[in-house]
Formats: sequence, structure tokens, C-alpha cells
Amino acid sequence: MSALLRYESVYKAYGPNLVLQNINLDIPEHSVTCLIGASGCGKSTLLRCTNLLEEIQHGSIYLRETDLAASHKDADALRAKIGMVFQSYNLFPHMNVIKNITLAPVRVRGERRSDAEDRARDLLQRFGLLDKALEFPDRLSGGQQQRIAIIRALAMQPEVLLLDEVTSALDPEMVGEVMDIIIELKSLNMTMIMATHQMGFASQIADNVVFLDRGAVLEQGHPSSFFGNPQHERTRQFLERVTMAI
Ligand SMILES: Nc1ncnc2c1ncn2[C@@H]1O[C@H](COP(=O)(O)OP(=O)(O)OP(=O)(O)O)[C@@H](O)[C@H]1O
Ligand SMILES: [Mg+2]
Repeated sequence: MSALLRYESVYKAYGPNLVLQNINLDIPEHSVTCLIGASGCGKSTLLRCTNLLEEIQHGSIYLRETDLAASHKDADALRAKIGMVFQSYNLFPHMNVIKNITLAPVRVRGERRSDAEDRARDLLQRFGLLDKALEFPDRLSGGQQQRIAIIRALAMQPEVLLLDEVTSALDPEMVGEVMDIIIELKSLNMTMIMATHQMGFASQIADNVVFLDRGAVLEQGHPSSFFGNPQHERTRQFLERVTMAI
């Protein structure tokens, strides 16, 4: 099966600090990939490079046949195909929910406002938030805001969704509702790459778990083999540490 996203020998440095080293990775269409690894290992950086928020120094990231690194002049058009949601939801505080969701489709994709609003309402309905359409972000719970942030990314009809620790800033009782939306997106065949510290969720949802160690992919595999039988000592140590922390 051909990959939707392909990383080939990707290197990224901040000054002298090499943060991604020789990343080679295939992301098949309709798959869920979970990025795990210790704090500072490069998960967010890999996602930010994929979303063209950062430039890589060497190598290529392909979205189908398009080399992202060579296409910075079309960054807006490409970014529209690569949705990203962050730990802090970053909704625009002065806009209501519908405005938040329709801004980019209207401004970046040039959609008619009425079409964008229709789709926003469809998405809100599907994810049980239609009654919040006219609310402002500060009147919503953290979990609701994060679900709106995910819907806002989906409104651009991206080909892949990048999720960077989208449940980490939430109170525990709100984590489940955001996970449920991700589970539903998987059932709708959305291709997703998700950085997470939640191993239980990764083992439940991932088709492939990728362990980053000091900027390199040390090991990857289906959750059953990855968690059941990790191959590297450093992977085992990491898993032991996070399991003990729970
Ligand atoms: N804008 C930046 N300028 C300089 N260094 C950076 C920048 N962003 C990240 N780094 C460095 O890159 C490395 C990887 O950081 P990154 O945020 O990708 O890690 P992470 O795996 O997402 O960690 P966490 O689990 O804590 O979110 C770290 O050493 C970090 O200090
Ligand atoms: Mg991070």
C-alpha cells in the first residue's frame, strides 16, 4: 500500500541541537500512528515539520507525490491538507464557535460562507456540540474547546490530522470525551498522527506505535507487539517508567 505521508532521511536541528535524526517513516492512508517517547525526544517537532511550521534541514516529507520541503511557496494550500490540533486549544477568543470553525475555510479555501457554515453545523451535530454553535470559547469547558478545535481542523477537510497531546491539558474527567472523538474519527477512516503520553489510549487506537528516542525512530510496530514484546532496552525502560508513573 502506498503511503499518504512518507518521511525520508529527515533531519532537523535547532542551532547545534540535532532534534530529528534520519527519520524514515511511512504513514499509510486511513491509519492511526501514535508517536511516543520521553519529553524532548522530538514528537512535537516532527508534527510541526509535517505541518510546515518548521523547516527541515535535510531529507524529504512527501504528502502523496508532493515534497513538502520543496513546496514552501504553496505552504497555505498544503497546510490546508494537513490539519493540526495542539495541546492548548488556541481557539480565537473573540469569535464564537461557528466563526472559529468557518474562518479558515472561507479565508484560505475561499468557500462561500453559507457552505462553510452548513458544514460546520453538520460537524457540530455529528460530534454532539450543535447547541454550542453560537457560544464563545470562554463559556465552554476545556474538553468542549478541544473538541471544537478538532472540528475546526476537520472543517478544512484535511487529508491527515496531526494531534499533539490533545488531552494533556484537560482535567481527567474531560479526557474521555476528546478520546471518543478521536475514536470516532478512526472509525471514519481519518488518517491521524498523534503524539501522546497515554499508553493505554495508544494501545487502543494505534495501527502503528512509533517510539522516538533522542530524535530517532528506535522502534515501531503494532501495539500488540510493541507493548507486548518491545525489542530495545531503551523502549523497555521507557515503558516501565511511564507505567510506573500511572
Ligand atoms: N523553537 C525551538 N527552538 C529551539 N529548540 C527547540 C524548539 N522547539 C523544540 N526545541 C528542542 O527540540 C527538542 C525536541 O522538542 P519537542 O518539543 O519536539 O519534544 P517532545 O517530544 O514534543 O516533548 P514533550 O513530550 O515534552 O512535548 C527539545 O530538546 C527542545 O528543547
Ligand atoms: Mg511535545
